[in-house]
Amino acid sequence: MVSEKLIKNIRDIAKDRFPMSIDGIHGIRHWERVHENGVYVAKHSGADLTVVRLFAYLHDCCRESDGSDFEHGLRAAEFAATLRGNVLTIDDSQFDLLYHACEFHERGRISDDATVGTCWDSDRLDLGRVSIKPDPKLLSTERARTKAVIDWAYKRSRGHKATLKG
Ligand SMILES: [Fe+2]
Repeated sequence: MVSEKLIKNIRDIAKDRFPMSIDGIHGIRHWERVHENGVYVAKHSGADLTVVRLFAYLHDCCRESDGSDFEHGLRAAEFAATLRGNVLTIDDSQFDLLYHACEFHERGRISDDATVGTCWDSDRLDLGRVSIKPDPKLLSTERARTKAVIDWAYKRSRGHKATLKG
């Protein structure tokens, strides 16, 4: 069972932490689409939904530029570590997955782990906002690789409405 209070608290904290314009390409609208992508993909992948939802709000919150910003993922992971035992009330195995997903999300990898793979897919499915169509070869989960999901995510990332069955 996901704690809505936990997700809301982390979303608020991530917004406060974010040093750039919250309306930019790595800001809140991106996080919300990553969140929506993650919730959908997790239904099919068997990912830990709490980790996937937390990743959406945390993974880019320590960016200092909209460029490649090397190790912004590590900074997000370390920021998450500072919240442990305080607002970030998840168990050790969930934290390890969240830390890993944040740290390495910028490295262009795929993962066999359902939770880490779903986190990375949810982020990559939003590449349309910078005019990049997600490449199925760079998506980790079977469901995210489908044309239906890529098209759904791409339309939303370009500012259009889209619906998806199933
Ligand atoms: Fe992102």
